[in-house]
Amino acid sequence: MTDPDAPIPARGLPLSARAPGKCIVFGEHAVVHGAPELLFAVDLYTQVFVRAAEVTRLNADPEASSRNGYFRAALELGWPAGPPVDVRAVSRIPRAAGLGSSAAFASALAAVFESARGGTTRSALAQRSFEIERGAQGVGSPGDTSAVVGGGYLAVNGGAGEPLWTVTSGDQRWVVRRVADPGWVWVVAHSGIPRSTGDAVRAVGQRLARPDGPEVLAQFASVATEGIQAVGRGDRPRVAELMRRNQELLREVGVSHPRLEALLEAAAPVAEAAKITGAGAGGSIVALPVPGKETELVRRLARAGGLPFVVRPAPEGAALVES
Ligand code: PMV
Repeated sequence: MTDPDAPIPARGLPLSARAPGKCIVFGEHAVVHGAPELLFAVDLYTQVFVRAAEVTRLNADPEASSRNGYFRAALELGWPAGPPVDVRAVSRIPRAAGLGSSAAFASALAAVFESARGGTTRSALAQRSFEIERGAQGVGSPGDTSAVVGGGYLAVNGGAGEPLWTVTSGDQRWVVRRVADPGWVWVVAHSGIPRSTGDAVRAVGQRLARPDGPEVLAQFASVATEGIQAVGRGDRPRVAELMRRNQELLREVGVSHPRLEALLEAAAPVAEAAKITGAGAGGSIVALPVPGKETELVRRLARAGGLPFVVRPAPEGAALVES
């Protein structure tokens, strides 16, 4: 295992890099508005292979930069005056599922570009990866991109100790800290319903602009603040209780979906808790299995129509794959 805080070294093309996906335990949506969030990098990866070429292409598609906003933003922000590049991307992270496929793609590609431009620090990579994702999505927080750059468990706008980095956008700033890994196994299940993160974030923004919005946001913040502490001390019963409260708040702001509710119901008998993870309105749920019941949980979620994965934290964030 490499040092998860290691900088990105200078290398020449051809280059390859990979980045993990992510799973949000507490605070999605509210983090966009400055509240705390807890998330971890998951051991499903996107890997990119980049070499100099005559024409810029992504997976053999020369039109990809007009079709794919993440690719376009990565080229514009990360490779502004660079020569054409042929990029191949392979991923085990399901797309549009709330598991960080776009953050992983953005940060793996940014790691290659930064390396080819002379290397960079991990905190600069976190900022750049966020700018790429936000450039493509138009809205959002740096939670996802920080998790896939940092690896392990991270708190945004919460936790204790020295910050790993601070990410900014205009007047907004998010402070990112490491949280100790409690050593738990999680189960994530994709509902199969694709959705747009940008649309869900904008809808929740409108909901939070209503008169009771500040009160709802304060409840999100208090659940996530306590959740960060509870994960840090490995307190499963408290984490489970807070996940249930977080799920109620996500229902309240309108991002649940009948298919997600069906998965939560299927998980209930063998999970200490389960909730939406990511933007919702489709996408995925995350469950904390009753110890020893992981396989049964996976079976129940599959029977309820989900695509389940057992996930563990990926200790290492985005990194070059040296051959
Ligand atoms: O795109 P997703 O489903 O991984 O969701 C990201 C989490 C949000 O808080 C909804 C948005 C954000 O950028 O933080």
